[in-house]
Parts: sequence; structure tokens; C-alpha cells
Amino acid sequence: MNESVIKNYSIYDDNIENTIRPESIEEYIGQTDVKENIKVFVSAAKMRDEALDHVLLYGPPGLGKTTLAFIIAHELGTNIKTASGPSIEKSGDLAAILSSLEPGDVLFIDEIHRMPRYIEEILYPAMEDFSLDIIVGSEGNSRNIKIDLPPFTLVGATTRAGDLSSPLRDRFGIVSKLQFYTIEELTDIIKRTSRVLEMPITDEAAKELAARSRGTPRIANRLFKRVRDFAMVEKSNEITKTITEKALDRLKVDKNGLDNTDRELLLAIINKFNGGPVGIEALSSSIGEEVTTIEDVYEPYLLQVGLLKRTSRGRVATDKAYDILGIERH
Ligand SMILES: Nc1ncnc2c1ncn2[C@@H]1O[C@H](COP(=O)(O)OP(=O)(O)OP(=O)(O)O)[C@@H](O)[C@H]1O
Ligand SMILES: [Mg+2]
Repeated sequence: MNESVIKNYSIYDDNIENTIRPESIEEYIGQTDVKENIKVFVSAAKMRDEALDHVLLYGPPGLGKTTLAFIIAHELGTNIKTASGPSIEKSGDLAAILSSLEPGDVLFIDEIHRMPRYIEEILYPAMEDFSLDIIVGSEGNSRNIKIDLPPFTLVGATTRAGDLSSPLRDRFGIVSKLQFYTIEELTDIIKRTSRVLEMPITDEAAKELAARSRGTPRIANRLFKRVRDFAMVEKSNEITKTITEKALDRLKVDKNGLDNTDRELLLAIINKFNGGPVGIEALSSSIGEEVTTIEDVYEPYLLQVGLLKRTSRGRVATDKAYDILGIERH
């Protein structure tokens, strides 16, 4: 099997994403309900000296699912092995990963909704009874073998919980939906990133950046790095609000935190489809973005901030969308 299917996590990985990524639950900002629940379940599992129940984390990209999976292992004091749904192609791949686990370990499967169905079926008994039923040998000479596995915790992450088969979803004891972050929470995340990367930022600049980050830590951190570049070029030893505004305007991130594609999407609904309702397929070909990208990346935030509505007949631009784009309804 190839190396990318199974990868041990090293906290010494020195790329920037991992430097900024919080390691303990105390450093993980926001998501209070999810965090509190996980703390309780982790402590209880440790007290019983059992593996934590399987956890499903879902929500839009960049909200901290992978981060939380690593934090769960950290809090449990166990190892984490990672794999991603589409990369597990053969039953042998999954068998190899599962049989490499130590008692109590976390197995993190990212994009779990993209796992092939026949792999899913091998996972069921593994999740339920910690046993593996596999067929070995070649045609005519094959037999079933049953392997006992150590108790482990599967942490699955997905941006599309709706695409998960219900037998798989039902096997997770803990199911948590991650929410978009508030401006206050994102401000804290940006200040933390500023400390970690040793680039000071003023309070008002941090808040401005937070307000334009689409409720998403990954975007907040990405914008922070770009704004930091502008500050460095301007030989400023801190990130100010003026620098932030200038940088974000150059990056075409508007006052509302919408980027080019967000605006294009809303403008298409308004100008080409008379405000909607418009079907997702038509919208997709009109702006040249994949349906899944629209559904997973763009829509959740636009729905959250009330610029878009989903009706049974398609997507509709709201009055607020007309307002912020400065377009009269007629
Ligand atoms: N609660 C948080 N507190 C601080 N930083 C966070 C938090 N959540 C996420 N981050 C930061 O945002 C980045 C993106 O988070 P992460 O990779 O965990 O998102 P994800 O939900 O797994 O995204 P995807 O769906 O694309 O896999 C992380 O590198 C981390 O630095
Ligand atoms: Mg992830």
C-alpha cells in the first residue's frame, strides 16, 4: 500500500499550517458545545479505560474538523493515524491500517463520505465489534478470516453529512456539527496566530480581518498571512487597520467578507435569473463552478449570513443581497 494512505502524525511537522494549528482543547477557540461534549466523553472514556466512542465531525471546509480530530487524540493521550476516504481503494488498504492500530488509538478518516461502499462494509464490524472479516486468497482458493482488532476510535470528517449512508452514520456514537465562528472568536484566533507567528496586530485590525473571514478560521489565517506580507513590504512592525483594509481590497475581499466567487454567484442569480429561484445546475454552468463546490464551499456561508435562500424551486437572492450589492429590485 502506498505511504499516503497511512501517515503517522508528527507534531514536529514544520509547515505553517501545523504551526498555527492548536494542539490542545484549551487552545481550540469557539465551538463551545462541541468542545464541552468532547471533554466529557474523553474524560469518561479515560476513567473507564476504554476507547472513546466513534466520532463524526461535519461542517463546511476550514472550520476545524481535522484540527479537532488531532486534539481528540492529544486529549486521549493516544496516537492518531490518518487516511482519506477516496484513498482507501482496496480492502487490503483498510485492513493494513486497522491492524496497525494500538489499543485506544484514533483512526482519522477525512472525507469519509467518499469512501467506496465495499470498504464501508468492512468498516461496520470493525466499528461495532472491533473485528475484521476479510477474504484472503485467490479465486477458487479463497477463505474468510476473522481478525480481532484492538479497541480504537474512528474519527470521521465530512463536509457532506447528507452523503453518508445511514448504516455508517448510525455507527458513530458522537456526531458533532461544527458551526461558523463569530467575529469575536475569529478575532481571538487571529490574535493567537499573530502571537505564534510573532507578527503583532492591533485590536481593530484583528477585528476587521475577522469580520471579513467568512466565519472560517482557515480563511482568517490565510488572510492574516497575506496581510502580514503587505505589512512587511511597508516596513511596518505591526499590522494596522489601514494596512489590513488596503491588503483586503487588493485581495478583492469586500467589506462583507465576500470574495469574487461569492459576488459572482449572487450577481448571476440576480442578473441572469431575475433573482431566482434558479436550479443549482443552471447556476453552476452560469458561473463555471462545480455543483459540489457551490454546495460545500460557497452556499453554507451565504445561507448563514442571509444573502441566499434555498427553496424547493431553487436558489433565491435575498433583499439583503440586493442591498449589499447595491442593486435595485425590479
Ligand atoms: N477552533 C479553532 N481555533 C483555532 N484555530 C483553528 C480552529 N479551527 C481551525 N483552526 C485553524 O484553521 C485551520 C483549518 O482547520 P482544519 O484544517 O481543521 O479545517 P477542516 O474543517 O478540517 O477543513 P477541511 O474540510 O477543508 O478539511 C487550521 O490549520 C487551524 O489553524
Ligand atoms: Mg480537514
